[in-house]
Amino acid sequence: MDEIQNPYKPGAGTQPSYLAGRESILHKANVSLERTKIGNYDRAIMLYGLRGVGKTVLLNRFKQMAEQKNYICEKIEISENDKFQVVITSVLRKILLSIDNTEKIKETLKKALGVFKSFSVSVGEVNFKLDVKPIVGQADSGRFEDDLKDIFLAIGEAAKAYNKYICILVDEIQYLKKPDLGAFIAALHQVAQSNLPIIMFGAGLPSVQKMTGDVKTYAERLFVFQPVENLKYPENEKAITEPAKKLNVTYNQDAIDKIIEITKGYPYFIQELGRHIWDVAKESPITLQDVLDAEPKAMEALDESFFKSRLDKVTDMEKSFMHAMASMGDNEKYAMADIVKKMGRKSTNDISIFRDNLKRKGVVDQMKIHGYICFTVPLFADFLRRTLGDYKPKLNKPKAKK
Ligand SMILES: Nc1ncnc2c1ncn2[C@@H]1O[C@H](COP(=O)(O)OP(=O)(O)OP(=O)(O)O)[C@@H](O)[C@H]1O
Ligand SMILES: [Mg+2]
Repeated sequence: MDEIQNPYKPGAGTQPSYLAGRESILHKANVSLERTKIGNYDRAIMLYGLRGVGKTVLLNRFKQMAEQKNYICEKIEISENDKFQVVITSVLRKILLSIDNTEKIKETLKKALGVFKSFSVSVGEVNFKLDVKPIVGQADSGRFEDDLKDIFLAIGEAAKAYNKYICILVDEIQYLKKPDLGAFIAALHQVAQSNLPIIMFGAGLPSVQKMTGDVKTYAERLFVFQPVENLKYPENEKAITEPAKKLNVTYNQDAIDKIIEITKGYPYFIQELGRHIWDVAKESPITLQDVLDAEPKAMEALDESFFKSRLDKVTDMEKSFMHAMASMGDNEKYAMADIVKKMGRKSTNDISIFRDNLKRKGVVDQMKIHGYICFTVPLFADFLRRTLGDYKPKLNKPKAKK
């Protein structure tokens, strides 16, 4: 079939031709946006889930919705080496300048600009022109958390005076350093208590739930933690059939069943397999044979784009740790205690270094329940078993005697 028309879009944050099964999440975001608009403070939504489940796609939708409701929107994607103070300063500046850019600005905005000036001096980010005087005693303490609170309050008050509302979207929250996350949460808390029109939507790996709770105990009440998961029936089926339907192409039922079996309803995998099936198929309806013909190529593409890169920087012992996990099956979570046993070790302490390294390398993630971890990528256990074979405990080489 026509490759140019291919409606499946494996990618990062790429809007799918048909967004399946996320109505209730979109509804929650819509309610939050509407409530904030009328001054009814609402909790921030924090999306969490594995790689490729569709968190970024949802954040982008939230942004679109907010823009349609005339919110001033700014989206940030945190990356491992970012300095949050620099990133947030630039975002806050953009927000401030969009509240009002006419000559005659109101007192509250003048104040916010002054507070911002102090803030930017305090965090050492003064590489832009802003012809206002800093306000003494506001956002100039040099303590990031206090200063961020001040600037959020000043911006919130200015927005309120202008009848404007602000939406800040933050992707890949797990990369925030703990003090920065703490400061950000504290600032949002302050805004919430003062009922100011700033709303935040966040997204990250499952560990964001644990991280936020660790840095601020009240975070549990400040956020709605929203899991984003694989698609269940009938939404998994719709994710496959709807994009094709728009182009008058249908599937035989056994073909659909096979796609669900292979992809387990994970959005990224549906897009990748769908893309290959479309290119292999000659005509509508798409058959089971088309799926079987496309499967090896799709799996190869998945291995290359999704799985293999995660093995690149992993040491042999770390690989052994992952392999021990994989040998227990495709689980949603793995108990550290079980991995200890599997690896033939005595205590969690013996293997926590591997867990920590793998977490840093983005392969495993810590869950909210104490003592449990998961792979960051769906179906990773299956990939490991396919490529590494059966698991045999591998012990550190004994140190050579002097
Ligand atoms: N609900 C959905 N229905 C169909 N396809 C979807 C859905 N959600 C996401 N996708 C597709 O899945 C892929 C991954 O989406 P996205 O990049 O948003 O995932 P993610 O959770 O942000 O992943 P990561 O953690 O790696 O950033 C994209 O190709 C997207 O088009
Ligand atoms: Mg993403």
